[in-house]
Amino acid sequence: MTRADPDRLAVFLSGTGRTLVNLAAVIDRGELPAEIGLVVASRACEGIGRAEALGIPVRLIEGEIEASELEAVLDEFSIDWVVLAGYLKRLPVPTRWVGRVVNIHPALLPEFGGPGMYGDRVHRAVLEAGVPESGCTVHLCDEHYDTGPIVFQQRCPVLPGDTPRSLADRVFQVETEAYPAALRLLIERSGSGG
Ligand code: GRF
Repeated sequence: MTRADPDRLAVFLSGTGRTLVNLAAVIDRGELPAEIGLVVASRACEGIGRAEALGIPVRLIEGEIEASELEAVLDEFSIDWVVLAGYLKRLPVPTRWVGRVVNIHPALLPEFGGPGMYGDRVHRAVLEAGVPESGCTVHLCDEHYDTGPIVFQQRCPVLPGDTPRSLADRVFQVETEAYPAALRLLIERSGSGG
């Protein structure tokens, strides 16, 4: 697929929408050849208000999405990439979408991932393991949690006296660079970017 238009992202979220806001800012600065064409929320959440404030169309689809419904909404909005940004439901990955559904996990996979590993639980597990580094992992999605091929990882230190919250804040800072970098890489590799 080669064309002049920027790739269109659908951002899926269930929470604050911080990742959405960061991606929108990066795109606005011309640092990612993409546009956000749709936000899908799995529940009423702060991210919906943030999407609306950015002028992005929002679909609230509660619970787990069926594959056919997912394909229909992605086609309706001419989406090229599904970008999970704090989306807490399992998502089917229809064959045609394999390699085009991306997630960011707030720790280094394959350790510190899997069902139930989200939010502060991840950072608590990292602290309990006593490892010197954490970071984030951008990976392609399959139908399991946190298991698809890794695209990009970025590390940060775990510091003495860290709490799950202080570590989460440091990891999120790293995410704000890593997610755009990984998406840039994927778009460039796919040959469809701008
Ligand atoms: C990020 O930390 C990301 O790693 C994870 O969800 C978080 C963003 O969620 N997948 P939110 O925007 O704070 O709700």
